[in-house]
Amino acid sequence: MVKLFILVPAPKKIEETSFDRLCQSKKILTINGRFPGPTIYAQAGETLALAFENKGKDNVTMFCCSRVGRQVKSDKVEWLIEAGSKVTKNITISDDEEGTLWWHAMNIWQRATVHGAFIVLPKPGKPDDHANIPIILGEWWKKDVKEVFLEYIDSGGDIKLDAFTINGQPGDLYACSNNGTFRIAVDTGKKYLLRVVNAAMSKTLYFGIARHNLTVVAMDGSPVIEPFTTGYVKLSRQQLIDCIFEANQHQDYYYMVAVTYIGETYDTNKITTAIIEYHGNYTPSSPPLLLLLPNFSPNYDISSSRNYFNVIMTFVILGLFFCTSLVIVWSRRPSRPHRSAMVTPL
Ligand SMILES: *[C@@H]1O[C@H](CO)[C@@H](O)[C@H](O)[C@H]1NC(C)=O
Ligand SMILES: *[C@@H]1O[C@H](CO)[C@@H](O)[C@H](O)[C@H]1NC(C)=O
Ligand SMILES: *[C@@H]1O[C@H](CO)[C@@H](O)[C@H](O)[C@H]1NC(C)=O
Ligand SMILES: *[C@@H]1O[C@H](CO)[C@@H](O)[C@H](O)[C@H]1NC(C)=O
Repeated sequence: MVKLFILVPAPKKIEETSFDRLCQSKKILTINGRFPGPTIYAQAGETLALAFENKGKDNVTMFCCSRVGRQVKSDKVEWLIEAGSKVTKNITISDDEEGTLWWHAMNIWQRATVHGAFIVLPKPGKPDDHANIPIILGEWWKKDVKEVFLEYIDSGGDIKLDAFTINGQPGDLYACSNNGTFRIAVDTGKKYLLRVVNAAMSKTLYFGIARHNLTVVAMDGSPVIEPFTTGYVKLSRQQLIDCIFEANQHQDYYYMVAVTYIGETYDTNKITTAIIEYHGNYTPSSPPLLLLLPNFSPNYDISSSRNYFNVIMTFVILGLFFCTSLVIVWSRRPSRPHRSAMVTPL
């Protein structure tokens, strides 16, 4: 006998949701009104039922849980939710899965805003003593995303975006953005597991935290055989890295940063930031301490443009458009005693 658990609050009816970013207001396609979308937590051996309701006028094809080389066991990892329909997809997590995956819309411009982390927690009994923090690296365009795409096709040039985002926010160094900057409060001596997803369409990103090392424990949904410690990590498009940082510095505020290549001048206007805040009684540095990454060649990422073109062509062929709204509900049919419900806001 299976039991169904609704893991998110009652589905909201969602039209395109309006967001204020970079001094402007704009509507984007979202799931449950969130950008990025909600994080889905699962455990090895479980089956999740993902219920989608597409309240819009356009079809959306969803894709879940890609990982390099292997995929979560399910009859199909890609499925269509026709405009106006409800679709439930069962996804079974095999017993040996663990790590961070992600879900997203297939269509490239829907995917720009419809995506989120899919985290497979360790099996019961395995140590799981770090706080989990999903970090979704994304992009923001002031213009309508479809317009951006059409311009790109016309010009054949580079994709022009206005900011990268960390959990939906460009961060302090962008205009009109410091109210929303993503913040993580930490306790001295504790370790935190960052589940980093590069959901950006077009760029490789470097990611790090000022004065803190990162210990990489998993990549692309699989544990690494020998975890290693580094000052920063590099994530190509769609790459996933699980890394641990220890709050072992003096109590202060530290920037977490995401940047694409770094040129000769370290242009602080183009650095996307979030803030690590130590708990305690002290006066934090203002601004917080910034991570200085080494210079990287601006041309290192040229190889990605061809792949990008292929993705664009897929978009052209599909001919899909915006103006859609979606509702998603997760439920869980545990293969073992139920744990507490775990779909959380970021
Ligand atoms: C949605 O998908 C269905 C089935 O593939 C197709 O018949 C229909 O034309 C599509 N609708 C739109 C608006 O693209
Ligand atoms: C998903 O699982 C439920 C419960 O076992 C079952 O009733 C339903 O038919 C399944 N749906 C699909 C699409 O396999
Ligand atoms: C930031 O928040 C303050 C207080 O809520 C508000 O007055 C101000 O307009 C906000 N600024 C921006 C840029 O959103
Ligand atoms: C980071 O790692 C390097 C190399 O292992 C080490 O020298 C340095 O002290 C570490 N820094 C911190 C803040 O832990």
